[in-house]
Amino acid sequence: MTPRQKFYITTPIYYVNARPHIGHAYTTIACDAIARQKRMAGFDTYFLTGTDEHGQKIERSASAAGKSPKQFVDEVSAEFRALWDKMGIKYDGFIRTTDAHHERGVQEMFAKIRDNGFIYKAKYTGQYCIADELYVNEGGPGTPCPICGNPTETVSEENYFFKLSSFQDKLLKLYADQPELIRPEGRRNEVVSFVKSGLRDQSISRASFKWGIPVPGDPAHVIYVWMDALINYCTAVGYGSKEKRDHEMFAKYWPADLHMIGKEIVRFHCVYWPAFLMAAGVELPKGIVAHGWLLFEESKMSKTRGNIVRAETIIDVMGNDALRYFLLREIVFGQDGSFSFDALVQRYDSDLANGLGNLSSRTLTMIQRYFQGKVPYPSAAAGRTAADKDIAALADKVIKNYNQLFSEYHFSRALEAAWSLVGAVNKYIVEQEPWVVADKTDEEGRSRLATILYTAAEALRVVTALVHPVIPDSTRKIWAQLGLAKIEQINPQTLKWGDLALGATLGTIEPVFPRSEKNAVERMQQMEQDRAAGGAKPDATQEPAGTGAVAGQPATQAAGGPAPNTSAASLSPTAKPAPISIDDFAKVELRVGQVKVAEKVKGADKLLRLEVDIGTEVRQVVAGIALAYEPEKLIGRKVVIVANLAPRKLRGLESNGMIVAASIGEQGSPVLAGFLEDVPVGARLK
Ligand code: MSP
Repeated sequence: MTPRQKFYITTPIYYVNARPHIGHAYTTIACDAIARQKRMAGFDTYFLTGTDEHGQKIERSASAAGKSPKQFVDEVSAEFRALWDKMGIKYDGFIRTTDAHHERGVQEMFAKIRDNGFIYKAKYTGQYCIADELYVNEGGPGTPCPICGNPTETVSEENYFFKLSSFQDKLLKLYADQPELIRPEGRRNEVVSFVKSGLRDQSISRASFKWGIPVPGDPAHVIYVWMDALINYCTAVGYGSKEKRDHEMFAKYWPADLHMIGKEIVRFHCVYWPAFLMAAGVELPKGIVAHGWLLFEESKMSKTRGNIVRAETIIDVMGNDALRYFLLREIVFGQDGSFSFDALVQRYDSDLANGLGNLSSRTLTMIQRYFQGKVPYPSAAAGRTAADKDIAALADKVIKNYNQLFSEYHFSRALEAAWSLVGAVNKYIVEQEPWVVADKTDEEGRSRLATILYTAAEALRVVTALVHPVIPDSTRKIWAQLGLAKIEQINPQTLKWGDLALGATLGTIEPVFPRSEKNAVERMQQMEQDRAAGGAKPDATQEPAGTGAVAGQPATQAAGGPAPNTSAASLSPTAKPAPISIDDFAKVELRVGQVKVAEKVKGADKLLRLEVDIGTEVRQVVAGIALAYEPEKLIGRKVVIVANLAPRKLRGLESNGMIVAASIGEQGSPVLAGFLEDVPVGARLK
């Protein structure tokens, strides 16, 4: 017996500085749909996802949340996992970069690359973007990051370097020899021109913080978080383990067949990753596919922009399949696409409730009513009309097109093809008027009715099997209502018209896609607003209670963003708290203060202890602005202070008030509020 062909598919591992949102869900759903389709087609499929938990960004987020890095990453990683479980994502492996076996594997690959002569030590002085964990060699202080556009930080450290420059020709040869490696083609072309423009050696360690995997033999350095992260694809299937079964697993699944990624991380996957693997002497992945971004209100949905929508909201109101169908149908895979609640509900109503749902319920109800719930025998081929034959021919065509388009990850077009059959059959039913034919009780009438309903049911079976990987829950229900078993064992490649079991008894008929609630859009918007305003379950990455974050402030703070006792204005399109009255506003006592003393707080790199004169007294305030302001430069500066906040303790120091600041950029860097005109100390803002 020949062994089953394997298929190993991966999502990026998600940073745990943010809670999962539908941007993450988008990639995961696409991979889940592919994995399900491969399993149906008989592949021994391994679907990997997980969390990326090391690095400076995570370390800073943990400290902003007042948690140890380990406690912080455990919590957020568990949230990702819980969401995937709630969404019914059928992953085979969930890797965390803090897993001991991963850490060992990373060290092993690092040592291997070093033994092979591709690592040396040198000084790196240049720019670094912490949000993207990217070295930006060009430019000086404040140079924008090419990925997120925010100012980079200057880093000057003795680092380990990877000889990336030695791989320029090998990479170009790889792209030329395997044009299918990177898709879509536009992304491939970008990679080729980037590599052609020249590759510099790449720093692969950091020495200024600890939250990472130590360099073997030199624990003063931690391995660059992207090297650590990329190697997950190998360690998850056994790389670096001494166990026999892990060796076998690695031999079976590696190389990966498909790394699915978002377009912003193409360079890491298509340049660094193959170069690391070549240097380590490990086989290269077979395919890397980059999709576009999910936009919300015109910009990339991301926590740091504060414009996220959470999958839970949609699932709770509309169900899993609604989200899956919408994302894969609405967005042209590879391109950016917009999310809106209105569009989601419209798609659901038109394609699922009125389209597939209607086809299913009217067909099955009529079989129930006119044929006692048994799939009717159609008339022999000679007795079929052109309309019947057209549906059969269309179904076979759709099967072929759908499979082809799906295998090229053109989900939207594949679903469009499937729904062309749904539309055609719904039209066919209207034109054939089975409810009128049912009045004819002679043999000819019965036979005609049987053929119409058989044709509709068979088309329903075909569509249901095809789209099962995309909308698994509802198609499983339709399948059972058709009286069939084990939809996941239907091979979409061999699916063909005419295989519906005649005479089979239908299951219990129930609506699969109830029409959406009248106020579904408003309900989802309200749920997101409540969450953003802090009314919902607290964000794991939100400031912990008691650190002075303004109640009702959206949980949009970036890694290293505004820290305790800085009230930060944040650009959050989803954060539209209910209006407050002037009396509510009057409750907040905002006063002009002047900084008299400013000093760093020991052991808390983001905090400053300030003594602020507010006219009537001098207040001690602990503020999370140390990364943005030198204490000496603050002395004498006029600031705005929330003067009537209940006192809180931070790092053992009592804080009596909160300094007001705007939050800018991905990092949510605080900028203190001030005045153009001179204002007296103690003046009230109203
Ligand atoms: N940790 C790295 C990846 C390391 S892989 C070895 C990382 N993590 S991330 O949390 O920022 O997630 C990035 C991935 O999440 C994107 O590549 C994409 O797959 C998905 N998305 C996150 N936000 C998204 C959108 N707004 N739109 C589409 N995909 C999004 O980068």
